[in-house]
Amino acid sequence: MYRQGCDGSILLDDTSTFIGEKNAGPNANSARGFEVIDAIKTQVEAACRATVSCADILALAARDGVNLLGGPNWSVPLGRKDSRTASQSAASANLPGPDSSLATLITMFGNKNLSPRDMTALSGAHTIGRSQCQFFRNRIYNETNINASFATLRQGTCPRSGGNTNLAPFDVQTADGFDNAYYQNLVGQRGLLHSDQELFNGGSQNALVQQYSNSPSQFSADFVTAMLKMGGLLPSSGTQTEVRLNCRRPN
Ligand code: HEM
Repeated sequence: MYRQGCDGSILLDDTSTFIGEKNAGPNANSARGFEVIDAIKTQVEAACRATVSCADILALAARDGVNLLGGPNWSVPLGRKDSRTASQSAASANLPGPDSSLATLITMFGNKNLSPRDMTALSGAHTIGRSQCQFFRNRIYNETNINASFATLRQGTCPRSGGNTNLAPFDVQTADGFDNAYYQNLVGQRGLLHSDQELFNGGSQNALVQQYSNSPSQFSADFVTAMLKMGGLLPSSGTQTEVRLNCRRPN
């Protein structure tokens, strides 16, 4: 996720003057695929120099990725600019971790003006992708609000000790399909992360999760609304911005 607004800051490599976000706890070894953005940027620069920001490329790639996996399509407002710096400490402080409670998730998204509904819809992105064992180990061995056969299944590739970086799909039904199965999983207590299952654990988001689990179109509509809101977060005024020529470093 972005932390200082959508300014491509996550794409910056560490430099001698700042430590970037790539190696902040919530992103280290997790945020990846930077070479894909580099390849796109190289082609865009060849066609039209210094015009399309890395932040816009990232927002478009997110939209296209969702759509290619069967999810909704939407138009992405463009014109974002790229930051000249990144902050590891702020990325660590502003991104919720996998052990977060519902209250923490609501507060941290709220800090970015994203409502609980936005947060619950955006979490549906966990209908695709993988998580490392170290982020769900405690859940599959020690939690009780988990389907027993699902816990056993996941324990198969996530041992009690070792195997920290072993991957498991978030969505046990359709791992690489962008659909509403994430919410069906939550209703069946098959959420992978503690933070996922928090959305359906008897709290304020239960009814909405239930609704998304029954209505793919409601989920798609709310996901798009929330992506537009998150994608519209701007860097705070006064920050210096530019169209970076290489997404990995300031010009
Ligand atoms: C609600 C708070 C959230 C928490 C606590 C959280 C946490 C995590 C964690 C721990 C992973 C696994 C990383 C790894 O194992 O390396 C992950 C993966 C992922 N997250 Fe989230 N996330 C949250 C919200 C979001 C949002 C809002 C989106 C996008 C809209 C998102 C999209 C993804 C995707 C696509 C992956 C899979 C990446 C891959 O397979 O390479 N997450 N998340």
